[in-house]
Amino acid sequence: MHITMVGTGYVGLVSGACFADFGHQVTCVDKNVDKIAALRRGEIPIYEPDLDRLVESNARAGRLAFTTDLAEPVAKSDAVFIAVGTPSRRGDGHADLSYVYAAAREIATSLQGFTVVITKSTVPVGTGDEVERLIREANPSADVAVASNPEFLREGAAIRDFKHPDRIVVGVNEPRAKKALTEIYRPLYLNQAPIMFTGRRTAELIKYAANAFLATKITFINEIADLAEKVGADVQEIARGIGLDNRIGTKFLHAGPGFGGSCFPKDTRALIKTAQDFEAPVRVVEAVIAVNETRKRAMARKVAAAFGGSLRGKTIALLGLTFKPNTDDMREAPAIPLVTALQDLGASVKAYDPAGMEQARGELSDVTYCDGPYACAEGADALVIVTEWEQFRALDLPRLKREMACPVIVDLRNVYRSEEVIAEGFRYESIGRSSQNGHGI
Ligand code: UGA
Repeated sequence: MHITMVGTGYVGLVSGACFADFGHQVTCVDKNVDKIAALRRGEIPIYEPDLDRLVESNARAGRLAFTTDLAEPVAKSDAVFIAVGTPSRRGDGHADLSYVYAAAREIATSLQGFTVVITKSTVPVGTGDEVERLIREANPSADVAVASNPEFLREGAAIRDFKHPDRIVVGVNEPRAKKALTEIYRPLYLNQAPIMFTGRRTAELIKYAANAFLATKITFINEIADLAEKVGADVQEIARGIGLDNRIGTKFLHAGPGFGGSCFPKDTRALIKTAQDFEAPVRVVEAVIAVNETRKRAMARKVAAAFGGSLRGKTIALLGLTFKPNTDDMREAPAIPLVTALQDLGASVKAYDPAGMEQARGELSDVTYCDGPYACAEGADALVIVTEWEQFRALDLPRLKREMACPVIVDLRNVYRSEEVIAEGFRYESIGRSSQNGHGI
């Protein structure tokens, strides 16, 4: 099938490359001339494991092309995906749909023959209706069906998530669209990935409900972690103890410094706005946002607690800055409020991140960036593990201790076992595991 992917952000680029890998003929379109030129040279604008290889091999095979001109590929496409950004609108938290609507208008005038236009961007309920209205207004004779196909991939595991999804959700209001999307996803269908067809509005809401639920799960375990710390219990064992109940499940129960990223914060905010507009408020999600916001700065107080509450004159070393490992993405990273809170408490901050330091420079001021974990630890009064990159999981603890001015580790991702760090002579603080608390025997 001929597919046009409008937008070459995370979702657009990964989906475009994967559809090409399935054997479809894909053209990715973006208004950003420099980005398209770079992609044509095989340069990938985002950090995503294996994406370079996938783009290169499919481009070489002639199945994947990049252009700034939308009209030509749209005219010959059976399906046009809209995968442009839907950032939080300044001021009110609603999703900003201006890029989606602009894309819809532009697509409309180039359509030829029957085409399915599909929103892959995360869009509030009713956006598909508006996309359809705009297309019909701009081109009344267009033979078009508008569908919704939300994407559930995670940054850092995007290709795996796309090719081995738990499910594919497709919202369609007519059989021809269902047929086209069945054809597009046929390779996954053969892999037995469940494909769920539903109404367009339902599909749109599934995406927000899924992200809000996951954000709620994380926030729930984070609050239980705080309680566990106070009462001398261990949150990791609690997560396992509740997660082994199939109704709960073990995933997304890792306590930490709070969720960040380009999706959960933005999508939970947009969901509460939609819910308020429809007078069906989602109070649980409202609480999740509030708890998560407070948590990020509270992590700085946790560091300060190791020094009696003040960090004046102290040097704090942060390992990891991105909102999670295997990405260079700093959007809404817990590290950002953490750094400002540490500085407000009087600390100097050093940091090292395997991929995020370039982006971090734009977000953070007065931070000394280091070449590696040991250079970062040099002269520090405390080492804080903020993001659980693989390379921080087996640090040479005696070497760290030699580098540091004061042997204190605050592990916000529970990467280490208390006993082993304490045995090396460190003071060790983690999340939801009081340092005195022994494991069961
Ligand atoms: C999330 C969803 O997981 C994807 O399914 C969805 O497609 C995507 O948003 C999106 O809407 O585009 P992503 O933001 O890439 O994916 O990252 P996650 O792996 O979900 O992590 C989000 C945040 O939650 C990170 O800050 C992570 O550290 C935190 N987290 C996650 C925890 O603190 N604990 C956990 O147990 C899991």
